[in-house]
Amino acid sequence: MKAVVLNKKGQPDRLVYCEVDRPVPGEDEVLIRVHAVSLNAADYRSMKMGMIPKRKIFGADIAGRVESVGKNIREFIPGDEVMGDLASYGFGGLAEYVSAPEGLIIHKPKTVSFEYAAAIPMAGVTALQALRDKGGVRKGQKVLIVGSAGGVGTFAVQLAKYFGCRVTGVCSTGNIQQTLSLGADEVLDYTKEAFTRDGRKFDLILAVGGNYPLTAYRKALADHGTYVMVGGGLSQIFKSLIFGRFLSLGSKKMKFLAAKANRTDLEFLVKLVEQGALKPVIERQYALENAAEAMNYLGKGHSAGKVVINIKG
Ligand SMILES: NC(=O)c1ccc[n+]([C@@H]2O[C@H](COP(=O)([O-])OP(=O)(O)OC[C@H]3O[C@@H](n4cnc5c(N)ncnc54)[C@H](OP(=O)(O)O)[C@@H]3O)[C@@H](O)[C@H]2O)c1
Repeated sequence: MKAVVLNKKGQPDRLVYCEVDRPVPGEDEVLIRVHAVSLNAADYRSMKMGMIPKRKIFGADIAGRVESVGKNIREFIPGDEVMGDLASYGFGGLAEYVSAPEGLIIHKPKTVSFEYAAAIPMAGVTALQALRDKGGVRKGQKVLIVGSAGGVGTFAVQLAKYFGCRVTGVCSTGNIQQTLSLGADEVLDYTKEAFTRDGRKFDLILAVGGNYPLTAYRKALADHGTYVMVGGGLSQIFKSLIFGRFLSLGSKKMKFLAAKANRTDLEFLVKLVEQGALKPVIERQYALENAAEAMNYLGKGHSAGKVVINIKG
């Protein structure tokens, strides 16, 4: 099969489009013909940090059709359209075929395209778990989403509106219209003004990628407000883990989310997409042979929505 394989550590240009053996599904695995795969910071970061999947193939968020199933598989049969996040199972999506345990995939409704389905899992579930589980989001809250234009942010803006909040997004000039079009009530351009301006306070702050000091976020929290950090630089993640407890003394809570793939959450999001209440934002699409270019683009940290790779049948 065709796949994009890392032949050396580190650089996107070391991702090579080549022929490799098709995976042979085990008794507890489903073999999926991949139609679309979206990239995440997890792919790029793992590559940069030398955390290389066993088969040296990145790509966690996949959508495709079941080709064959192992003898213990109960929920899926060949021909089923499926989707899921395979990061915890060694990635492998940048290929014509990938095998996965049934516990990580769900049925994809026919009405949701393969591209949309591949765009949802990691970024969508992360946004949902950040707002709902860590953030305890409630109707009527003032929510600030810093990093509103990226993969996670575009889902977070829409979900916060779905939960009935007043949403302020923070992004760069070129992405303001996009954040507004997703339903944000207001957008702050971080290249022109700090989100701390006017001493405004928010009930819930979702910081996608960190980007600003923890003390600045704390200052912008209302009493009894919650800050949730999703990803970011290693030093800020450590600071958040170490100092979060101290900064949480009093009524303001400072939390860090390490999101986990969850089928129920993914099914919830897909239902919202089917209902038209949520729309994945795909900024760019690439062919599999150009996956290195796609990874390079994502690694710059300014994608406006999701980057999807299409794999021709
Ligand atoms: N399992 C997990 O916990 C989990 C899952 C998914 C993601 N994450 C983490 O979440 C982070 C973002 O992921 P993503 O998929 O959304 O990334 P992405 O699609 O690459 O988007 C990054 C976004 O950050 C924005 N940005 C860059 N500098 C900024 C700044 N100074 N202020 C505000 N926004 C800024 C960019 O918007 P502009 O172009 O407008 O600057 C861009 O849209 C990563 O650190 C990732 O590791 C964690």
